[in-house]
Amino acid sequence: MTALTDDTEGAIPIAAVTADGFSAWAETLPAAQRRWLESTKYEAKPGRTALVPDETGRLALIVHGVDRAEPVWALAALPADLPPGLYRLGFDPEKLFGPHGASQLALGWALGAYRYDRYRRSERAPASLAWPATADRKTVTALADGIALARDLINTPTEEMGPQHLAEAATALAGRHEAEIDVTVGDALLERNYPMIHAVGRASSRAPRLIDLRWGDPAAPRLTLVGKGVCFDSGGLDLKPASAMKLMKKDMGGSATVLGLAHAIMASGLKLRLRVLVPAVENAVSGSAFRPLDVFRTRKGLTVEIGNTDAEGRLVLCDALAEASSESPALLIDMATLTGAARTALGPDLPALFANNDAAAIALVAAGQEEADPLWRMPLWKPYRKLLDSKVADINNASDSPFAGAITAALYLQEFVEPEIPWIHIDTFAWNPTARPGRPEGGEALALRALYRMLRQRFG
Ligand code: BES
Ligand code: MN
Ligand code: ZN
Repeated sequence: MTALTDDTEGAIPIAAVTADGFSAWAETLPAAQRRWLESTKYEAKPGRTALVPDETGRLALIVHGVDRAEPVWALAALPADLPPGLYRLGFDPEKLFGPHGASQLALGWALGAYRYDRYRRSERAPASLAWPATADRKTVTALADGIALARDLINTPTEEMGPQHLAEAATALAGRHEAEIDVTVGDALLERNYPMIHAVGRASSRAPRLIDLRWGDPAAPRLTLVGKGVCFDSGGLDLKPASAMKLMKKDMGGSATVLGLAHAIMASGLKLRLRVLVPAVENAVSGSAFRPLDVFRTRKGLTVEIGNTDAEGRLVLCDALAEASSESPALLIDMATLTGAARTALGPDLPALFANNDAAAIALVAAGQEEADPLWRMPLWKPYRKLLDSKVADINNASDSPFAGAITAALYLQEFVEPEIPWIHIDTFAWNPTARPGRPEGGEALALRALYRMLRQRFG
């Protein structure tokens, strides 16, 4: 991470200003600089930047309007907007932004310096920030690298991010942290009783697989993360129209987010026994594709009728959740780009959270608020379970009803989780449709910072 550096030599100070404090602060400036701000009609509104020279005409000061409510994004536009070079905070971050101010600003800076450059190098380097003295470097670096990993995985086109590539990325991550990893590939999924992962992935020339990573002290409390790794979702035989299919390289966003979170957990050494399960498949069309009204027996033993081959995420997840459940973890969290209905309800910025445990849900919603990484709780509304009734099998994977699509998907998953295990399901978009400071258009690890904060509070 070069966006944050140990260098301080010649660093240009950044002054963060708020609308209410601006005039008093401007009084303290040398007359020439005050006049520059006046004559350029600088207004201290959030996001407005002034480049202020000294008497010799050299850049001497950055003035940037901030909103105190979301410290992480307060300076996040600067790494991309400022002239390349070295900058430092010219104010007390804790005074302006509270106890974690320095860390939040540093993390926002790192996220604002992110760019997806696999296929085209950036023309200019992001501006660098000298590490603020009071920042928690280890945590900031762990989170920034985890989020960059997730964004890179999502942004990479399916051609180079198929099931095998996703498994390679997980293997590389395991190697970095001395984690164990096991990958079950192709027909071995049938031998090891993962029939749904196989059924969804079998049409693709790129074999489906289950990635299984373990890390940490075996005696520590168990946390299991499950991520939907559908590397491309064509819809299968229930083919999506072009407009709906276009962005489906991001249908592995749940797995990318849990891998990024796993990195943050391992790099910062949280005291837990981590397991990450990722069913990695391509939902493709071919002569061997699974079909509408096929019936399969899942890993758990429940039979499922295929109402729609485009409801594939819950199918691959149900085998992974059954396996996760068998170990009775202290906490089980799955993340998935599971339904369009969650987006219709909450839009792209608010992942939907479902939980069978109120304490876990409340802790995560609170952590999200504190981190400016919000989630919104939706109900596991039991009466809607009947929308998934099948005439021939234990359950149907898709409801014929136009109602409550995110809820019925969550209720489907719940069938595969033992009721006594605290379980959180997150239905996420994993993508920024438009750019904002620190959040470029493209893949996004929504809820990662919220989850990390909650886990740290619990497993510090
Ligand atoms: N990956 C999609 C859900 C999705 C679509 C997420 C668009 C984000 C943006 C999922 O596999 C899917 O196709 N779900 C269907 C389920 C339906 C067939 C019951 C949906 O939401 O329409
Ligand atoms: Mn689908
Ligand atoms: Zn999907």
